[in-house]
Amino acid sequence: MTAQNFIPKPYTKTIENGSVTWQAPSNIALVKYWGKKENQIPANPSISFTLSGCNTKTTLTYSKKDTNNTFSFDVYLSGEKQDSFKPKIETFFKRIEIYMPFLKDFHFKIETENTFPHSSGIASSASGMSALALCLMDLERLLSDAEISNNYFGQKASFLARLGSGSACRSIEGSLVAWGEHHDISESSNLFGVKYPFEVHDNFKDYQDTILLVDKGEKQVSSSVGHGLMHNHPFAEQRFKQAHQNLSALITIFKTGNLEAFIKIVESEALTLHAMMMTSMPYFILMKPNTLEIINKIWTYRSSTGSKLCFTLDAGANVHLLYPVNEKQEVLEFINNELVVYCQNGHYICDQIGLGANKID
Ligand code: DP6
Repeated sequence: MTAQNFIPKPYTKTIENGSVTWQAPSNIALVKYWGKKENQIPANPSISFTLSGCNTKTTLTYSKKDTNNTFSFDVYLSGEKQDSFKPKIETFFKRIEIYMPFLKDFHFKIETENTFPHSSGIASSASGMSALALCLMDLERLLSDAEISNNYFGQKASFLARLGSGSACRSIEGSLVAWGEHHDISESSNLFGVKYPFEVHDNFKDYQDTILLVDKGEKQVSSSVGHGLMHNHPFAEQRFKQAHQNLSALITIFKTGNLEAFIKIVESEALTLHAMMMTSMPYFILMKPNTLEIINKIWTYRSSTGSKLCFTLDAGANVHLLYPVNEKQEVLEFINNELVVYCQNGHYICDQIGLGANKID
């Protein structure tokens, strides 16, 4: 499969106007994507849990225009016009135009809303770009005479979402999604995410993710800048190699349900991501004192109770607590008794592993 496969044959149908709505989830990486090449090609493979509660719902309303020499669209977030989102979407449209040659034929109204709180510090680019990519795929389906299989639909949606934001390609389909070529996953690709194809032990069923909102502020480092820091990074090659090894190890762990081994990989990946940022030039520390307080509390809790609770981090200060569903009650008690004090305004979000995106209308 190459990018050329996603260039459609000339469209045979015409449509005037209409609308379509998709909802797509956020995801949390276990093996992190950090570093990319030209055209949003990842420097290493990654894998994530799809979340179920943190979603973006997007309605795309389209109307045919008379001229087709520019992109024309308006964006709304929770009913309010957001011109600040336009440059990112314009860049996205430019990148995907060759694969979606109808984009300049329509005026689009893009209405989007997140189910997670606005300015919670939770990135909405993964869920937002995947929801928009799915809406556009629906439009392509209406314009094409040829049957678009569900498989192609999902693959191309993921391919397009990747061009909007890399991690977005892991928010289309499946509970566990791998992205980036990996030796042990023959269907894996740098171009799109694939549903994890192997056995997953019941220990991971309904796995919980509680997101502790340590810092709801703007990102200190945009992800594009962050990925750029891996160019000429002194430890880059070793890190990329390690991501391959960690993904191989996870395949065995998912099969056997070995949660001790799972914890080691997941926490090490989170700390490595931050270690890469601390050792790049320029260097950054994106954890906050409260992030470290939480990590230390988790380690103490785990050693005194034998719990299988662990943490992961994205490129920010918030902490994702991952744990088996059978520990839900105890862990929520632990959070309320010992961790809420480290959250901004005491806020946290309870979520769990989900199935992927779905069409609403
Ligand atoms: C730390 O997908 O936000 O969350 O491709 O530049 O949009 P762009 O980057 P983005 O990077 C996410 C990085 C991460 C790790 C991960 O989700 O794998």
